[in-house]
Amino acid sequence: MDILSGVSEFFGLDIGTSSIRIVQLRGTGAVKTLDRYGSAPVAGAVAMSDSKADQQKLAQAIVQLCKQAGITTKNVAVGIPSNRVFTTVVDMEKLSQSELAKTIRYQADSFIPTPLAESKIDWALLGDSPKDPTKVEVLLSSVNNTYIESRLDMLENAGFNVIAFEPDTFAVVRSIVAPEAAAPQMVLDVGARSSDLIVVVNGAPRLSRSIPVGSEAIIRSAVAGLGVDAAQATQFVYKFGVSRDKLEGRVYNAIINVVDNLVAEIEKSIKFFQGRYPSLKLERVIATGGASTLPEFPLYVANKFGVNVEIGNAWRNVSFPASRQNELLSISNHFAVACGLAERKA
Ligand SMILES: Nc1ncnc2c1ncn2[C@@H]1O[C@H](COP(=O)(O)OP(=O)(O)OP(=O)(O)O)[C@@H](O)[C@H]1O
Ligand SMILES: [Mg+2]
Repeated sequence: MDILSGVSEFFGLDIGTSSIRIVQLRGTGAVKTLDRYGSAPVAGAVAMSDSKADQQKLAQAIVQLCKQAGITTKNVAVGIPSNRVFTTVVDMEKLSQSELAKTIRYQADSFIPTPLAESKIDWALLGDSPKDPTKVEVLLSSVNNTYIESRLDMLENAGFNVIAFEPDTFAVVRSIVAPEAAAPQMVLDVGARSSDLIVVVNGAPRLSRSIPVGSEAIIRSAVAGLGVDAAQATQFVYKFGVSRDKLEGRVYNAIINVVDNLVAEIEKSIKFFQGRYPSLKLERVIATGGASTLPEFPLYVANKFGVNVEIGNAWRNVSFPASRQNELLSISNHFAVACGLAERKA
């Protein structure tokens, strides 16, 4: 029981553009037990919309899903999609914690793109700067107040008690990256609308990008290139992926340009990362999200960059009965954000 925060139980909520997902864990030790989980499809328009009617639909869907999954608490930790968060790493003078906090408040305006008065700012000290040993690296993130307030309204009106908002990118790192990994790891969450890319060193994000390419763009490209409808295109894409020798390479040819847009952004990020941290070498890419399971996609990325690419396991830090293994692994790539939120220390 977490007496300090007064919150003993809560669940993680990922409002994705294609589905909402919830996870509740149980127990107090280092490894918690998976207690409840579930997902329900939502239309992208509803999940992303700021309109009152859509927010109400979304709230109803969340209430319904909690009931169905048997969630036992109203306390919830909620993910913030990466296109609503601005994250950056800045070098600052070495100062005491309280002086640093003051300096960040004072200087934040020059680091973030949105007006300070309209933004909620968070920061974390990462360690010494790789560029200048007299300075420290600080991870800064900012979120638009209006966005947070409207999500808060929606959830409170539905009877929930929001204990935390956290960027999806931080949650996904918690669930799928081994905390003991000292070498840089890249997380790639290939979602429906967009993909998140995060480079993690010693458990902390050093670089984070949202790339506006995901499974929807890949399917659209397959529809156009193959001349079939969306349902068929989806079948083809998830059956053949970026394999050149299946179906005479027709699926490959139809989608490779879109996949390469994503790959080009990965390349830029690797270059940027290596420019800032020349002594570190990216060890592996851990892929998750719906489109991470495109056949041969991990291999394609691995060959491009000469790094290991593996599919992340959203449940790596939680225990569950062996009888659930197959079911859970088959949905693992959709649950990394929700599970990471549920793994928060309340
Ligand atoms: N085998 C499959 N067959 C059909 N579609 C699939 C398959 N696997 C994944 N998908 C697609 O994956 C997408 C969902 O991916 P994901 O769970 O990462 O999205 P999301 O989190 O809702 O999106 P975002 O992170 O962009 O908000 C859906 O559009 C779904 O159609
Ligand atoms: Mg997602």
